[in-house]
Amino acid sequence: MAENLDGKTALVTGGGSGIGRAASLAYANSGARVVVTDVNIEGGEETVQMIKESGGEAILVHADVSRPTDTEAMVSQAVKVFGSLDYAFNNAGIGGGRDRHLTADYLEEDWDRVMAINLKGVWLCMKAEIPQMLKQGKGAIVNTASIAGLVGLSGTVAYVAAKHGVAGLTKAAAMEYAKSGIRVNAVCPGYIETPLIEGVFDQVEGYKETLESRHPLGRLGQPDEIASAVLWLSSDAASFVTGHNMTVDGGYVAQ
Ligand SMILES: NC(=O)c1ccc[n+]([C@@H]2O[C@H](COP(=O)([O-])OP(=O)(O)OC[C@H]3O[C@@H](n4cnc5c(N)ncnc54)[C@H](O)[C@@H]3O)[C@@H](O)[C@H]2O)c1
Repeated sequence: MAENLDGKTALVTGGGSGIGRAASLAYANSGARVVVTDVNIEGGEETVQMIKESGGEAILVHADVSRPTDTEAMVSQAVKVFGSLDYAFNNAGIGGGRDRHLTADYLEEDWDRVMAINLKGVWLCMKAEIPQMLKQGKGAIVNTASIAGLVGLSGTVAYVAAKHGVAGLTKAAAMEYAKSGIRVNAVCPGYIETPLIEGVFDQVEGYKETLESRHPLGRLGQPDEIASAVLWLSSDAASFVTGHNMTVDGGYVAQ
Protein backbone atom coordinates (compact mmCIF):
# COMPACT_ATOMS: atom_id res chain seq x y z
CA MET A 1 0.00 0.00 0.00
CA ALA A 2 1.38 3.45 -0.89
CA GLU A 3 2.10 5.70 2.09
CA ASN A 4 0.10 8.92 2.29
CA LEU A 5 2.42 11.81 3.14
CA ASP A 6 0.12 14.60 1.95
CA GLY A 7 0.99 17.99 3.43
CA LYS A 8 4.29 16.77 4.90
CA THR A 9 7.76 18.08 4.13
CA ALA A 10 10.68 15.77 3.41
CA LEU A 11 14.31 16.87 3.15
CA VAL A 12 16.80 14.71 1.26
CA THR A 13 20.57 15.25 1.20
CA GLY A 14 22.41 14.05 -1.88
CA GLY A 15 19.06 14.28 -3.69
CA GLY A 16 20.68 15.03 -7.05
CA SER A 17 21.67 11.44 -7.87
CA GLY A 18 21.24 7.74 -7.18
CA ILE A 19 19.53 6.72 -3.96
CA GLY A 20 18.78 10.34 -2.93
CA ARG A 21 17.01 11.03 -6.22
CA ALA A 22 14.97 7.82 -5.96
CA ALA A 23 13.96 8.72 -2.40
CA SER A 24 13.07 12.30 -3.40
CA LEU A 25 10.76 10.94 -6.11
CA ALA A 26 9.26 8.38 -3.74
CA TYR A 27 8.49 11.03 -1.09
CA ALA A 28 6.92 13.25 -3.78
CA ASN A 29 4.87 10.38 -5.23
CA SER A 30 3.45 9.82 -1.75
CA GLY A 31 2.34 13.44 -1.52
CA ALA A 32 5.18 15.06 0.42
CA ARG A 33 6.77 18.36 -0.60
CA VAL A 34 10.46 17.72 -1.07
CA VAL A 35 13.51 19.80 -0.25
CA VAL A 36 16.19 18.36 -2.51
CA THR A 37 19.67 19.28 -1.28
CA ASP A 38 23.03 18.56 -2.87
CA VAL A 39 26.39 20.07 -3.79
CA ASN A 40 25.61 19.00 -7.35
CA ILE A 41 23.31 21.77 -8.56
CA GLU A 42 22.71 20.26 -12.00
CA GLY A 43 21.70 16.88 -10.59
CA GLY A 44 19.54 18.55 -7.95
CA GLU A 45 17.75 20.65 -10.55
CA GLU A 46 17.05 17.52 -12.60
CA THR A 47 15.48 15.82 -9.59
CA VAL A 48 13.31 18.86 -8.86
CA GLN A 49 12.26 18.95 -12.50
CA MET A 50 11.35 15.24 -12.44
CA ILE A 51 9.19 15.82 -9.35
CA LYS A 52 7.44 18.83 -10.90
CA GLU A 53 6.80 16.93 -14.13
CA SER A 54 5.03 14.22 -12.16
CA GLY A 55 2.84 16.84 -10.45
CA GLY A 56 4.75 17.16 -7.18
CA GLU A 57 6.23 20.09 -5.28
CA ALA A 58 9.96 20.49 -4.70
CA ILE A 59 12.73 23.03 -4.23
CA LEU A 60 16.49 22.73 -4.52
CA VAL A 61 18.81 23.97 -1.80
CA HIS A 62 22.55 23.91 -2.37
CA ALA A 63 24.06 22.41 0.77
CA ASP A 64 27.37 20.78 1.56
CA VAL A 65 26.63 18.45 4.49
CA SER A 66 30.13 18.91 5.89
CA ARG A 67 29.45 22.62 6.51
CA PRO A 68 27.28 23.52 9.52
CA THR A 69 26.24 26.84 7.99
CA ASP A 70 24.85 24.90 5.01
CA THR A 71 23.02 22.27 7.05
CA GLU A 72 21.42 24.97 9.20
CA ALA A 73 20.44 26.98 6.12
CA MET A 74 18.84 23.97 4.39
CA VAL A 75 16.56 23.37 7.37
CA SER A 76 15.67 27.09 7.66
CA GLN A 77 14.85 27.13 3.95
CA ALA A 78 12.63 24.04 4.25
CA VAL A 79 10.66 25.65 7.08
CA LYS A 80 10.51 29.03 5.37
CA VAL A 81 9.14 27.63 2.10
CA PHE A 82 7.02 24.68 3.26
CA GLY A 83 6.33 25.53 6.94
CA SER A 84 7.61 22.31 8.53
CA LEU A 85 10.22 19.56 8.49
CA ASP A 86 8.57 16.19 8.96
CA TYR A 87 11.05 13.77 7.41
CA ALA A 88 14.78 13.97 6.82
CA PHE A 89 16.77 11.50 4.78
CA ASN A 90 20.45 12.13 5.54
CA ASN A 91 21.91 10.31 2.60
CA ALA A 92 24.68 12.36 0.97
CA GLY A 93 27.93 10.46 0.82
CA ILE A 94 31.06 9.71 -1.16
CA GLY A 95 33.03 6.55 -1.90
CA GLY A 96 35.94 5.35 0.16
CA GLY A 97 38.96 7.00 -1.41
CA ARG A 98 40.84 6.95 -4.67
CA ASP A 99 42.98 3.83 -4.82
CA ARG A 100 41.56 1.30 -2.39
CA HIS A 101 44.62 1.49 -0.11
CA LEU A 102 44.80 -0.91 2.82
CA THR A 103 44.67 0.56 6.33
CA ALA A 104 48.43 1.08 6.77
CA ASP A 105 48.70 2.87 3.44
CA TYR A 106 45.44 4.78 3.58
CA LEU A 107 45.87 8.48 2.90
CA GLU A 108 45.10 10.86 5.75
CA GLU A 109 43.47 13.35 3.41
CA ASP A 110 41.09 10.62 2.14
CA TRP A 111 40.31 9.63 5.73
CA ASP A 112 39.50 13.25 6.66
CA ARG A 113 37.31 13.83 3.60
CA VAL A 114 35.32 10.60 3.97
CA MET A 115 34.79 11.24 7.69
CA ALA A 116 33.79 14.88 7.14
CA ILE A 117 31.05 14.00 4.66
CA ASN A 118 29.95 10.46 5.50
CA LEU A 119 30.00 10.67 9.31
CA LYS A 120 30.27 14.25 10.56
CA GLY A 121 27.91 15.32 7.77
CA VAL A 122 25.16 13.02 9.05
CA TRP A 123 25.59 14.38 12.57
CA LEU A 124 25.56 17.99 11.34
CA CYS A 125 22.32 17.30 9.45
CA MET A 126 20.67 15.81 12.53
CA LYS A 127 21.98 18.68 14.67
CA ALA A 128 20.18 21.11 12.37
CA GLU A 129 17.00 19.03 11.88
CA ILE A 130 16.25 17.87 15.42
CA PRO A 131 15.50 21.31 16.96
CA GLN A 132 12.82 21.91 14.32
CA MET A 133 11.32 18.44 14.86
CA LEU A 134 11.34 19.05 18.63
CA LYS A 135 9.38 22.27 18.06
CA GLN A 136 6.83 20.29 16.05
CA GLY A 137 6.76 17.45 18.61
CA LYS A 138 7.20 14.88 15.86
CA GLY A 139 9.58 13.82 13.12
CA ALA A 140 11.28 10.88 11.46
CA ILE A 141 14.90 10.74 10.41
CA VAL A 142 16.49 8.10 8.19
CA ASN A 143 20.26 8.04 7.71
CA THR A 144 22.11 6.19 4.99
CA ALA A 145 24.58 3.75 6.49
CA SER A 146 25.61 0.70 4.43
CA ILE A 147 26.43 -2.98 4.69
CA ALA A 148 29.85 -1.39 5.33
CA GLY A 149 28.31 -0.09 8.58
CA LEU A 150 27.69 -3.66 9.72
CA VAL A 151 30.57 -5.76 8.37
CA GLY A 152 34.18 -5.13 7.33
CA LEU A 153 35.18 -4.60 3.71
CA SER A 154 38.73 -4.45 2.41
CA GLY A 155 40.45 -1.40 0.92
CA THR A 156 38.06 1.23 2.17
CA VAL A 157 38.76 1.62 5.88
CA ALA A 158 37.48 5.19 6.31
CA TYR A 159 34.22 4.36 4.54
CA VAL A 160 33.69 1.29 6.76
CA ALA A 161 34.55 3.25 9.92
CA ALA A 162 32.29 6.16 8.91
CA LYS A 163 29.34 3.90 8.11
CA HIS A 164 29.75 1.99 11.39
CA GLY A 165 29.72 5.46 12.95
CA VAL A 166 26.45 6.29 11.21
CA ALA A 167 24.92 3.07 12.56
CA GLY A 168 25.99 4.05 16.09
CA LEU A 169 24.94 7.68 15.71
CA THR A 170 21.52 6.47 14.59
CA LYS A 171 21.06 4.28 17.67
CA ALA A 172 22.33 6.98 20.08
CA ALA A 173 20.07 9.70 18.65
CA ALA A 174 17.13 7.28 18.65
CA MET A 175 17.59 6.75 22.41
CA GLU A 176 17.88 10.48 23.10
CA TYR A 177 14.76 11.57 21.25
CA ALA A 178 12.45 8.54 21.58
CA LYS A 179 10.33 10.28 24.22
CA SER A 180 10.15 13.47 22.13
CA GLY A 181 8.32 11.94 19.18
CA ILE A 182 11.32 11.70 16.90
CA ARG A 183 12.23 8.33 15.41
CA VAL A 184 15.74 7.81 14.03
CA ASN A 185 16.59 4.85 11.81
CA ALA A 186 19.08 3.99 9.07
CA VAL A 187 19.11 2.02 5.86
CA CYS A 188 22.06 -0.24 5.14
CA PRO A 189 22.12 -0.83 1.39
CA GLY A 190 24.08 -3.58 -0.31
CA TYR A 191 25.72 -2.60 -3.60
CA ILE A 192 23.25 -0.44 -5.52
CA GLU A 193 23.53 0.58 -9.17
CA THR A 194 24.21 4.30 -8.87
CA PRO A 195 26.95 6.59 -10.21
CA LEU A 196 28.86 5.97 -6.95
CA ILE A 197 29.83 2.45 -8.06
CA GLU A 198 29.01 2.52 -11.78
CA GLY A 199 32.15 4.58 -12.43
CA VAL A 200 34.28 1.66 -11.25
CA PHE A 201 32.54 -0.86 -13.56
CA ASP A 202 34.25 0.66 -16.62
CA GLN A 203 37.65 0.75 -14.93
CA VAL A 204 37.82 -2.78 -13.49
CA GLU A 205 36.88 -5.67 -15.77
CA GLY A 206 34.52 -8.19 -14.18
CA TYR A 207 33.91 -5.98 -11.11
CA LYS A 208 30.16 -5.82 -11.64
CA GLU A 209 29.86 -9.61 -11.96
CA THR A 210 32.00 -10.06 -8.84
CA LEU A 211 29.78 -7.74 -6.84
CA GLU A 212 26.61 -9.39 -8.14
CA SER A 213 27.85 -12.82 -7.08
CA ARG A 214 28.47 -11.59 -3.50
CA HIS A 215 24.73 -10.98 -3.01
CA PRO A 216 22.67 -14.12 -2.32
CA LEU A 217 19.92 -12.70 -4.58
CA GLY A 218 22.55 -12.77 -7.36
CA ARG A 219 22.25 -9.17 -8.50
CA LEU A 220 22.87 -5.58 -7.48
CA GLY A 221 20.12 -3.48 -5.94
CA GLN A 222 18.28 -0.59 -7.57
CA PRO A 223 17.89 2.88 -6.00
CA ASP A 224 14.09 2.41 -5.88
CA GLU A 225 14.52 -0.60 -3.63
CA ILE A 226 16.26 1.59 -1.04
CA ALA A 227 13.74 4.39 -1.52
CA SER A 228 10.83 2.12 -0.59
CA ALA A 229 12.54 1.20 2.69
CA VAL A 230 13.23 4.88 3.41
CA LEU A 231 9.62 5.76 2.75
CA TRP A 232 8.38 3.02 5.05
CA LEU A 233 10.80 3.95 7.86
CA SER A 234 9.72 7.60 7.53
CA SER A 235 5.99 6.87 7.56
CA ASP A 236 3.61 6.10 10.42
CA ALA A 237 3.55 2.50 9.18
CA ALA A 238 6.87 2.27 11.05
CA SER A 239 5.56 4.07 14.16
CA PHE A 240 7.08 1.48 16.56
CA VAL A 241 10.46 1.35 14.80
CA THR A 242 13.38 3.41 16.07
CA GLY A 243 17.14 2.89 16.42
CA HIS A 244 17.04 0.27 13.65
CA ASN A 245 19.76 -0.19 11.03
CA MET A 246 17.76 -1.89 8.30
CA THR A 247 19.60 -3.98 5.72
CA VAL A 248 18.32 -3.75 2.15
CA ASP A 249 21.09 -5.82 0.69
CA GLY A 250 19.91 -8.88 -1.23
CA GLY A 251 20.96 -11.00 1.75
CA TYR A 252 24.59 -9.78 1.80
CA VAL A 253 25.11 -9.64 5.58
CA ALA A 254 22.97 -12.71 6.31
CA GLN A 255 25.69 -14.96 4.87
N1 LIG B 1 25.57 2.77 -4.27
C1 LIG B 1 25.88 1.89 -3.35
O1 LIG B 1 26.25 0.76 -3.65
C2 LIG B 1 25.75 2.25 -1.89
C3 LIG B 1 25.77 1.21 -0.95
C4 LIG B 1 25.65 1.51 0.40
C5 LIG B 1 25.52 2.82 0.81
N2 LIG B 1 25.53 3.80 -0.13
C6 LIG B 1 25.39 5.17 0.35
O2 LIG B 1 24.25 5.73 -0.24
C7 LIG B 1 24.39 7.16 -0.24
C8 LIG B 1 24.02 7.69 -1.60
O3 LIG B 1 24.94 7.16 -2.53
P1 LIG B 1 24.59 6.86 -4.07
O4 LIG B 1 25.01 5.47 -4.32
O5 LIG B 1 23.22 7.30 -4.38
O6 LIG B 1 25.70 7.79 -4.74
P2 LIG B 1 25.59 9.00 -5.79
O7 LIG B 1 27.00 9.38 -6.03
O8 LIG B 1 24.73 8.61 -6.92
O9 LIG B 1 24.84 10.13 -4.96
C9 LIG B 1 25.46 10.79 -3.89
C10 LIG B 1 25.02 12.25 -3.91
O10 LIG B 1 25.58 12.88 -2.75
C11 LIG B 1 26.06 14.15 -3.16
N3 LIG B 1 27.12 14.60 -2.25
C12 LIG B 1 28.41 14.20 -2.21
N4 LIG B 1 29.07 14.90 -1.28
C13 LIG B 1 28.19 15.79 -0.76
C14 LIG B 1 28.29 16.79 0.24
N5 LIG B 1 29.43 17.06 0.87
N6 LIG B 1 27.16 17.50 0.55
C15 LIG B 1 26.00 17.27 -0.10
N7 LIG B 1 25.85 16.33 -1.07
C16 LIG B 1 26.94 15.60 -1.38
C17 LIG B 1 26.58 13.94 -4.57
O11 LIG B 1 26.70 15.17 -5.27
C18 LIG B 1 25.53 13.00 -5.14
O12 LIG B 1 24.48 13.72 -5.75
C19 LIG B 1 25.81 7.44 0.21
O13 LIG B 1 25.81 7.78 1.58
C20 LIG B 1 26.51 6.11 0.01
O14 LIG B 1 27.61 5.96 0.86
C21 LIG B 1 25.62 3.56 -1.47
